[in-house]
Amino acid sequence: LRTDFAARIDQAADLRALDDVRVAALGKKGEISLLMRGLGRMSPEEKTVMGPALNGLKTDVAALIEARKAALEDAALDAALASETLDMSLPVGRPQGTLHPVQQVMEEMAVIFSDMGFSVAEGPDIEDDFHNFTALNFPPSHPARDMHDTFFMVPEPSQNSSGSDAAVGQKVLRTHTSPVQIRTMMNQKPPIRIIAPGRTYRCDSDQTHTPMFHQVEGLVIGEDIHMGHLKGCLMDFVSAFFETDVDVRFRPHHFPFTEPSAEMDVRYERDGASIKIGQGNDWMEILGCGMVHPHVLSACGLDPDQYQGFAFGMGVDRLAMLKYGMPDLRDMFAGDPRWLGHYGFSP
Ligand code: PHE
Repeated sequence: LRTDFAARIDQAADLRALDDVRVAALGKKGEISLLMRGLGRMSPEEKTVMGPALNGLKTDVAALIEARKAALEDAALDAALASETLDMSLPVGRPQGTLHPVQQVMEEMAVIFSDMGFSVAEGPDIEDDFHNFTALNFPPSHPARDMHDTFFMVPEPSQNSSGSDAAVGQKVLRTHTSPVQIRTMMNQKPPIRIIAPGRTYRCDSDQTHTPMFHQVEGLVIGEDIHMGHLKGCLMDFVSAFFETDVDVRFRPHHFPFTEPSAEMDVRYERDGASIKIGQGNDWMEILGCGMVHPHVLSACGLDPDQYQGFAFGMGVDRLAMLKYGMPDLRDMFAGDPRWLGHYGFSP
């Protein structure tokens, strides 16, 4: 019986066949189990011989089955390793960063404006009073120069702190991207068609204001440029940006460096935590604009009788909020990857 089972175990080609042999030998109705049950009917003399013999047989067969099982499992693993091409040395997938919504929106804007023939200009974040205020026709006592709005840099010790030259040279964190208008007009001959995306700073913080924020400035200078060009350009921009027809309104406003000046609002609606563009009864201001003031043209050496132009400055963070339905501006700069993921900006 032992050699018979040993042969059958050896011949079992796979784990299933092996289990059939195990059932036939050691299962409830298996041959060895039946023989052991028969011990009860034997005489004491027979039992002392057959008992140990059957127990030994049972242990041996069980051991043979275990050994064969291990061999079959090894073979199965070898076969799997040979046929499957899983490279365990490849690096584990790592989360990949994505563009911040503000960066993404600035790039979207640059694409739309470049289709309209604009190129991109840049200026420094640390500006001087001349480019940030004086050349932009801010009167000396204008409230925007006030400590509450502007971050003033501590003057360097070598800097002469008296006289009007010192005031004009006072360094500030730019409060808007409009100084790039001045830098462009002083360095470039018309026709001019630029946008200037970048960071801007104001000493202000609440639900709709952060001390650092982003603007995209626009400037067009040429001959016979008028308010119609300004409106057409900005209306084309918002429909391209929101990829739908957007209701806009221009409200008269005041900026020292444009005349006339306006602010442009877009129609929107708050729907729970999200924001919908183009419907509803609320208006959100997204930009300031106007015709470049003759004083500004003169300050940059351009003859206001020959050249006119328009300019605009838009809040990038607000536009990102509107486009992606984000309710609170401050979340933009909290650096929480879960927040980015919620708006589809994470892998
Ligand atoms: N610089 C203005 C602001 O920050 C916006 C603006 C730019 C208005 C250009 C008119 C023309 O509010």
